Amino acid sequence: MTSRKFPSTRLRRLRSKKAIRSVVAETNLLSTDLIWPLFVMEGSNNTQPIETMPGVKRHTVDKILFQCEKALELGINMVALFPKIEKDKKDPFGSNANDENNLICRCVRDVKKHFPELIVICDVALDPYTSHGHDGILKDDVILNDETNDSLIKQSLTLAAAGCDIIAPSDMMDGRIGKIRNALEKNNFKDMIILSYAAKYASAFYGPFRDAVGAGKLLGDEGKATYQMDPRNKSEAISEVALDINEGADIVMVKPAMPYLDIIKQISDNFDIPCFAYQVSGEYSMLIAAIQNGWLSENDIISESILGIKRAGASAILTYFAPVIAENLKQGQI
Ligand code: PBG
Repeated sequence: MTSRKFPSTRLRRLRSKKAIRSVVAETNLLSTDLIWPLFVMEGSNNTQPIETMPGVKRHTVDKILFQCEKALELGINMVALFPKIEKDKKDPFGSNANDENNLICRCVRDVKKHFPELIVICDVALDPYTSHGHDGILKDDVILNDETNDSLIKQSLTLAAAGCDIIAPSDMMDGRIGKIRNALEKNNFKDMIILSYAAKYASAFYGPFRDAVGAGKLLGDEGKATYQMDPRNKSEAISEVALDINEGADIVMVKPAMPYLDIIKQISDNFDIPCFAYQVSGEYSMLIAAIQNGWLSENDIISESILGIKRAGASAILTYFAPVIAENLKQGQI
């Protein structure tokens, strides 16, 4: 670092005009950095608002197609699909996750048929499918790790057969990436990309998402703290990521994003595979609530929140703001 002194150095020189600020900007957002999470529900020609996420809706499969078309028009190349499973299809084991004609498989097949170039990510976890809302199989108040892994393998193969491009285990069971990778290799899904939710914290910021997919009312006092990471921990994220990479993950994810920027930085500095970040439902709802009250200014606050995540080291960001940001990028407003 050269030594700098005033007035030979005036850092304000490079801030004096918009065009100059742009040319020296260290971080830039692209629409291809954005991944848009979408909620799917049963039925046709219908949408439903999600009360705790103003502006976000659940869509029937036919309506999801319009969202996918919009994504591509805006230059967003990836969507992540999340199903809201009907109550009568849920059971303690999340069996519906392994049904090749379940909602998410039908949706993936339809989306890929109409938009083969759109990259589709599917979560691997049992929470939308279990009657208790946990990501795994529950017995005597314990989430069974190895039994859950057996089910996650089946769910992964079911999603791969439906044609999704990326599977994203978000369940936080130990050893699941290796088991899933092994099964994919054996079943001739050798090119399936695994995006591991590797450093996934037991966060209160997931509350609105659990409303959106209808999971979470029955989680109990500890919530998901016996399998998701403790928000007090940092080094442990290194172990989680190292294990998942060794087991065959192609991309890792940190989640939530804004309260965990230090973790994003740590992971992207220490590992040589892409690190994604998820700006989760609670982060979205928090900003939207302030925007709707007129307390924060919409476009500025949204782009600043995403730029911060990218600056910390995320190579792509899952965000419910994806279409708004992409629209602003198109208009040259970021
Ligand atoms: C499911 C899953 C969750 C989210 C993504 N996948 C919720 C959870 O773990 O309880 C949260 C996403 C969000 O809050 O936007 N395992």
